[in-house]
Amino acid sequence: MKHWTLDDIEWEKFDPSKIDPELLKVIKAASLVEKNGFEYARYLEDVFSDDPALVKAAWIWAAEEVQHGDALGRWSEIADPSFKFEEAFADFEETIQLPTDVSDSIRGSHTGEFIARCIVECGTSSLYSAIAAATDEPVLKQITQYIAADELRHYKLFYGYAKHYQSEENLSRWTRFKIGFGRVIETDDDELSYAYYAANHKGDGPYDRERYNKLYVARVYDFYQFRHIERASAMAFKAVGLKPHSWMCMTFARLSFRFMKFRARRFQRWERKQQGARTPADARSPA
Ligand SMILES: [Fe+2]
Ligand SMILES: [Fe+2]
Repeated sequence: MKHWTLDDIEWEKFDPSKIDPELLKVIKAASLVEKNGFEYARYLEDVFSDDPALVKAAWIWAAEEVQHGDALGRWSEIADPSFKFEEAFADFEETIQLPTDVSDSIRGSHTGEFIARCIVECGTSSLYSAIAAATDEPVLKQITQYIAADELRHYKLFYGYAKHYQSEENLSRWTRFKIGFGRVIETDDDELSYAYYAANHKGDGPYDRERYNKLYVARVYDFYQFRHIERASAMAFKAVGLKPHSWMCMTFARLSFRFMKFRARRFQRWERKQQGARTPADARSPA
């Protein structure tokens, strides 16, 4: 059962003067990725076809993800009437294909599948918490608060399955760490970069993964505060079987936060140079 619907959103409180145009671009991209939830449910159905209860939970989870897409898509269309959510999603869905007709997890084990899913939910819950804190637009704040709470529940759901399968498969901590870290690295793959392109730059020439990944990262990492990364790191550590509240986890969080802000600033400079608008400070500093 969904914990909220689009009718629970107070759309009448929308305030156009509070729209951040850079955040709007991120929200449009997020709407497309979220809307693709059923594609993941089909994949999970293939992998866990012998567990009907799990398959049922996967479809409920996917319906919530699709609703995240619908809410963010509707908000984006209100904020920018030139944005056509269904049109952009049709393009995204056709281009970004997940593995189908598989009988086993692409992560190599059932435990690995759910560790990877936990990492995704760490990422989304921290993203929407960061956006909810950053935006002053009342409707977007409400939507992202609802979504962040859903993502946290999704994490708990998948963590339960990861623990269950770990008791059967007994993967080493190193293997679990590699799976978790590998999924973090995958955030630079085509899914988010293409979503950013399809939602914001479709008419600007052909897709270029590196270019649109930089443009996405330059914006999205700007919105995070340290507390969001600290929490996501603790959740990720727990998912791979490491102590969540340890000096190692805190060090990881600090380094991750600094690296994210470094990348955001670097790509912002790169973008300004691309636009031929270098500032005196940029001219002094190496690319
Ligand atoms: Fe979601
Ligand atoms: Fe989720």
